[in-house]
Amino acid sequence: MSKDDIYRQSQAFIDDFGFGENVATVFDDMLERSVPFYGELQRMIAEMAADFAAPDTRIYDFGCSTGTTLIGLDRAIGPRGLTLIGVDNSEEMLAKCRAKMAGYAFSNAVELIGADLNHGIDMGNASLAVMILTLQFIRPLYRDKLVKAIHDGLEENGALILVEKVLGESSLFNRAFINYYYEFKMRNGYSGLEIAQKREALENVLVPYKLAENLEMLKLAGFRYIDVFFKWYNFVGIVAVK
Ligand SMILES: C[S@@+](CC[C@H](N)C(=O)[O-])C[C@H]1O[C@@H](n2cnc3c(N)ncnc32)[C@H](O)[C@@H]1O
Repeated sequence: MSKDDIYRQSQAFIDDFGFGENVATVFDDMLERSVPFYGELQRMIAEMAADFAAPDTRIYDFGCSTGTTLIGLDRAIGPRGLTLIGVDNSEEMLAKCRAKMAGYAFSNAVELIGADLNHGIDMGNASLAVMILTLQFIRPLYRDKLVKAIHDGLEENGALILVEKVLGESSLFNRAFINYYYEFKMRNGYSGLEIAQKREALENVLVPYKLAENLEMLKLAGFRYIDVFFKWYNFVGIVAVK
């Protein structure tokens, strides 16, 4: 796994964060060291997916990146005549995903689609959609519409599993949670400079909502059952059933 040192050196200009070749190359290390309990989140998602994956349906992973979730889902669910569909708009991520998937024998069919989720989605016969740390990159203008489209694309009793970075409900806790998060990143080997430069790069790109706003968006989209299955300061996992 290549080490994430993208923001190690001081940069005169910080470009907006993107998912090009430099990020795709170090992405697995970046996630391991930047997302609290990333491994446990993946395990929980696969565990829940095994309950929701109805035989002979489709399962979507929106923002599939390098394919870690697709592989985890297939492993946890086992052969069920499913089609696992990974969607991402980064060709570089999809290339890494293809390479990683080539080393794993899937027990269900798998497809990768290059598409920009800001422009909506084309879904059908789906029992499950997973969206890990990706909705936060969708422009707020299109976010409700996308969540509604995912709801509409799911079969009855189908589920959406969502993981998002969130804002604290008050500025008091928001500030504190961000500090605890930066301390977590320091413990994982990132320097103050790396953390500050990445924060600046993400500023206009990653737009987090509050947990309450995410829950309201899911409710308005029509999901009948909604619950929080994971929370660590400013990270949250939500499961919603149609
Ligand atoms: C933080 S990563 C997701 C991590 C991944 N789900 C995982 O758990 O391993 C966000 C992903 O969403 C993709 N993405 C961002 N904006 C997108 C868009 N508008 N349409 C499709 N994919 C998008 C990025 O290319 C990136 O691969």
